[in-house]
Amino acid sequence: MKKILVTRKLLKENEDRIKKLFDVKLNEQDKVYSSDELIELSKDCDGILCIGGNKFDSYVFEKLSKSVKIIASYSVGYNNIDINLATKNGIIVTNTPEVLTDSTAEIAILTLLGAARRAYEGRQMAESQKWTWACNFLLGKEMSNAKLGILGMGRIGRAIAKRAKAFGMEIHYHNRTKLSTAMEEGAIYHDNIKSLFNNSEFLSINCPATKETTHLINENSIKYLPNEAVVSNTARGDIIDDLAMIKALKSEKIFALGLDVYNGEPKIHPEYLKLNNVFVLPHLGSATLKTRVAMGNRSIDNLENFFNNKKPKDRLN
Ligand code: DGY
Repeated sequence: MKKILVTRKLLKENEDRIKKLFDVKLNEQDKVYSSDELIELSKDCDGILCIGGNKFDSYVFEKLSKSVKIIASYSVGYNNIDINLATKNGIIVTNTPEVLTDSTAEIAILTLLGAARRAYEGRQMAESQKWTWACNFLLGKEMSNAKLGILGMGRIGRAIAKRAKAFGMEIHYHNRTKLSTAMEEGAIYHDNIKSLFNNSEFLSINCPATKETTHLINENSIKYLPNEAVVSNTARGDIIDDLAMIKALKSEKIFALGLDVYNGEPKIHPEYLKLNNVFVLPHLGSATLKTRVAMGNRSIDNLENFFNNKKPKDRLN
């Protein structure tokens, strides 16, 4: 039986299944392993089920046991794994696309609405029990019939577009490549960020985190947005230059920001937490029982296929 290191505690449904298929090294305490612990624990393992974004960088790949042949990531994003180094070390990497599209799209809509309709301030006011209804009380921005820009029109971007259309929103998007007319479903393509941002009263960030997208939202690109735009990020923290964003929130160039992802999670830039126009969630994109079980099964399928000499469906390299 092949031996698999499971880096965090799986849900029972997934744990029961993986135990039947592999000799598993489980993480009963659900501890977040350091790189050194990861290296040590995987010494006698054939594969790793990576949960929660352990870093696989040059430090880890240099010391990782040669017995490890696959890293199956329990996530759609894989910016924590240096794919080139994995390939050089003869390790294949898989992820879990598709199964978290709907749950993440829901959180994107929640962050857009939470920011636009001032949910954080609303909660504070309600808790204080000192609020008084007034004509100008906590006025927000209305999503209905506004223009929504989607940066990154992959599966999640398209699922957000579908939901936003129910609000009567006009959908604009930028992607590395233009989608087919059938896939666009009426969305308007922009071949550059400036043009997309000019048309984004609301902006949803859904592109992968790569060298090219690091700090794509910066002091310059923020200027392209209409005044008082609402922005949401449910992709990865490093797409936003936090200092530039904080400045724009303070000056109200950006009306409000909804965030589910951060630079250096679980830390959140302290200035965001001081601002009333920031609505924050602790990386809940895929956090439903249905989705998490599906993510577990998808990563176990990838391990199973790999060790049965079948090509894993979600092979990345
Ligand atoms: C992913 O799968 O990349 C999500 O961000 C994890 O919840």
